[in-house]
Amino acid sequence: MSLWYPYAQMKTMSPPLEVASASGAVLKLADGRELIDAISSWWCVIHGYNHPVINAAITEQMSQMSHVMLGGLTHEPARKLADKLVAISPEGLNHVFFGDSGSVGVEIALKMAIQYHKNQDTPGSHAKTQIIALKKAYHGDTIGAMSVCDPVEGMHSLFSGLLPQQIFVPSPIGGFDSTAEDTQDNLMLLADTLNKCARTTAAFIVEPLMQAAGGFNFYSPDYLREARKLCDAHNVLMIFDEVATGFGRTGSLFAADQTGITPDIMVLGKGLTAGYSGHSATLATDRVYEAFLSDDPAKSFMHGPTFMGNPMACKIALTSIELFEAENRLARIGQIEAILKKRIRSITGQAVKDTRVLGATGVVEAKDKASLKGIQDFAAERGVWLRPFETYAYTMPPYVISDEQLHKVCDVLEVWFA
Ligand SMILES: Cc1ncc(COP(=O)(O)O)c(C=O)c1O
Repeated sequence: MSLWYPYAQMKTMSPPLEVASASGAVLKLADGRELIDAISSWWCVIHGYNHPVINAAITEQMSQMSHVMLGGLTHEPARKLADKLVAISPEGLNHVFFGDSGSVGVEIALKMAIQYHKNQDTPGSHAKTQIIALKKAYHGDTIGAMSVCDPVEGMHSLFSGLLPQQIFVPSPIGGFDSTAEDTQDNLMLLADTLNKCARTTAAFIVEPLMQAAGGFNFYSPDYLREARKLCDAHNVLMIFDEVATGFGRTGSLFAADQTGITPDIMVLGKGLTAGYSGHSATLATDRVYEAFLSDDPAKSFMHGPTFMGNPMACKIALTSIELFEAENRLARIGQIEAILKKRIRSITGQAVKDTRVLGATGVVEAKDKASLKGIQDFAAERGVWLRPFETYAYTMPPYVISDEQLHKVCDVLEVWFA
């Protein structure tokens, strides 16, 4: 087979479903069937497929230019998008560096954090080359991003020798509404690690409030507020990877909005371009940005992917953010959350270990992997596209999904686990 599929054993995989077109929350298959996409094509198609407003913006941009480099040239879509991201992101994130995917956005954040310290040229600043990350984290599939993924789930042993060695702390427990006591234990572990390792640590990276692909671990904003204080005390930068949580997924525009804190660096991807093209934005505070201002060219930020700030991607992102505001997606996400809370939380059955909902994310955690075997076909036969992984059957629908479509997704999960 010429086409090599992701995360797939090519020898034994079943033939994938052929999609002929898509619109709204619906995938239209070549055989005429229609499936409600319950997972927004890995969580990025936030306004649904084939949105006429974004389609029109693309046509308009294409007639002007589809791409020019940002090295030595500039253009309005990139400048306008940077201004817009600064305006809507947490107070203090005033600078935007574009990249071409979520993983690359994370790589940029890691490099930025390390070079930030190097550029200080103070005693010890060159030793800060490691990153503290959470167990159960997922930050992408490129080498640097993989190095801060959970060491087991992130296959560190398979790629040992290639991956840089990072420092891991247990992920916060107790869920979104966890008690101060739950949070306290995890914070003590983080404090211990910082006491021991701050000398060599550039940054602490987290997926705020929701560790997504590493196992849908929801946790309390308190943990992040306290972690912020610990990082500040140890001269360690804080990076929020909002590739999955950004643009409404946890109920607020950014998960950071529920914490009241501003990270030093924040990464956006996926929903940034609404599923129309790959792109990412790595945002930084003045403190980070100013460490790169110098008469010494070697202190410039050493990164520059070919497609950074691609005009089409920037135009798409700008139009997507305008739609998000004009069509009040946050209100719709609140309604989706209410339906998911009612339907997903009431799913019971022998195979169910836990159910949880946050914003437009609903998860049924099974007791073992075997109890999810066949659920993808079962859902497809009933007109729903689900793609569970490990022990998690979940929905992260496009925000344009109708109540009726969302209930259908919940019906499928309910019947499967009954
Ligand atoms: C939190 C997080 N960071 C980074 C990534 C990587 O993004 P991409 O797949 O666009 O490289 C993902 C993808 O799932 C993610 O969930």
